[in-house]
Amino acid sequence: MIHLPPGFVWGAATSSYQIEGSVDADGRGESIWDRFCKKPGATADGSSGAVACDHYRRYRDDVALMRDLGIKAYRFSVAWPRVLPRGRGAVNPLGLDFYSRLVDSLLEAGITPLATLYHWDLPQALQDEGGWAERSTAQAFAAYAEVVARRLGDRVKTWITINEPWCVSLLSHQLGKHAPGLRHWPTALAAAHHVLLAHGLAVPVIRRESPGAEVGITLNFEPAVAASPSAADLDAARHSDGSFNRWFLDPVFGRRYPADMVADYAKAGHIPESGVPQAKDGDFATIAVPADFLGVNYYTRKIARSDSVPEAENDPPTVVLPPAPELTTMGWEVYPEGLYRLLCRIHFEYGPRKLYVTENGSAWPDPAAAHGRVHDPQRVEYLRGHLAATARAIQAGAPVAGYFAWSFLDNFEWERGYTQRFGIVHVDYATQVRTPKDSALYYRDAIRAGGVEE
Ligand code: FCB
Repeated sequence: MIHLPPGFVWGAATSSYQIEGSVDADGRGESIWDRFCKKPGATADGSSGAVACDHYRRYRDDVALMRDLGIKAYRFSVAWPRVLPRGRGAVNPLGLDFYSRLVDSLLEAGITPLATLYHWDLPQALQDEGGWAERSTAQAFAAYAEVVARRLGDRVKTWITINEPWCVSLLSHQLGKHAPGLRHWPTALAAAHHVLLAHGLAVPVIRRESPGAEVGITLNFEPAVAASPSAADLDAARHSDGSFNRWFLDPVFGRRYPADMVADYAKAGHIPESGVPQAKDGDFATIAVPADFLGVNYYTRKIARSDSVPEAENDPPTVVLPPAPELTTMGWEVYPEGLYRLLCRIHFEYGPRKLYVTENGSAWPDPAAAHGRVHDPQRVEYLRGHLAATARAIQAGAPVAGYFAWSFLDNFEWERGYTQRFGIVHVDYATQVRTPKDSALYYRDAIRAGGVEE
């Protein structure tokens, strides 16, 4: 048995667009995901989050289930277009009321709420003005953060500004896989800058409105190793780490953008040699505002190989899979050691005050629920391995204060629609019946025991 320390925060996570549904209820405005899902081919099964898990109407039952499973903390996200249907200006009180009721029911159930302010559902009205490519969206985010923190800040004491800036910027504006579905390097790097700026602008605002709260940002990480000792592959791994991990980590920790990556992007013609044109004097100081914690999302690693194609076409670099991999249905390698190394690396190289694993989980071809059970042995093993890796990182000195299983419920997995099940709780989308999978029961037992088998 390897133990997590006393007081460790055992949590589960979701996000608004992936579970809530009720996209037209109570004055909610349109989000970029509502719009994006209407494009033919945008999602694997032609679906959207219009109904999802119907959590907007079933949140009380969901909270009760979390309580029954012994989950101690819940990371949810607030849908910006519920609160400010046009992105800025008029506040929709009914939207705020929903999150206020959710927070109250969590507290009544003895579950600590953690609120993420941006998990990708940008109001479409702001996209119509250019979205994250525009500096004004960062300012609008800070104003939105103020409205939410003012209303919930007496009860929510942990805030995450932005979820996964890499996805918000490169995946959505360069690879085109997520809303708004653009493919343009300079726009993607402008979006990355404004998302980081939005974080920096919002931190002091949230602190003011929610006294005593802790505030941080969640980044997603994919550690990269070279597929071979060749200089080209080693360089592909450096570049992959730079574009995915360091481009965001470095500025948040006061190091501006990594020089090797500025050079790479300039060489590829994405930005001038002088750097990101949108980065103005003072922005880096704003972005580097000392945060109370860093949220770490980890799912897998990358093995990077250079191909004999121009760098601009091989970016992100080609990924090869290990010879006998255990792959999830996302095609992701199961590699718990990567979480241990990542947490240690961040601790030793960046020195955050505190870390939370804000997402970690896996999708598998789960069988349908039968007699109230869903057997998901691979997810149980994934969970065990990554909790053990977290415990080992803590033993090595990393200040990891909590772990949030992704996800509490099966849900709308973005461009994959409903084809990927990440939940520890199974959702029958036809009936909305929830069935805790074996992994949920395993998690409940691990929480009780305070640790997992090594
Ligand atoms: C992360 C997202 C989350 C979910 C998981 C599988 O990148 O934050 O919403 O889609 O991946």
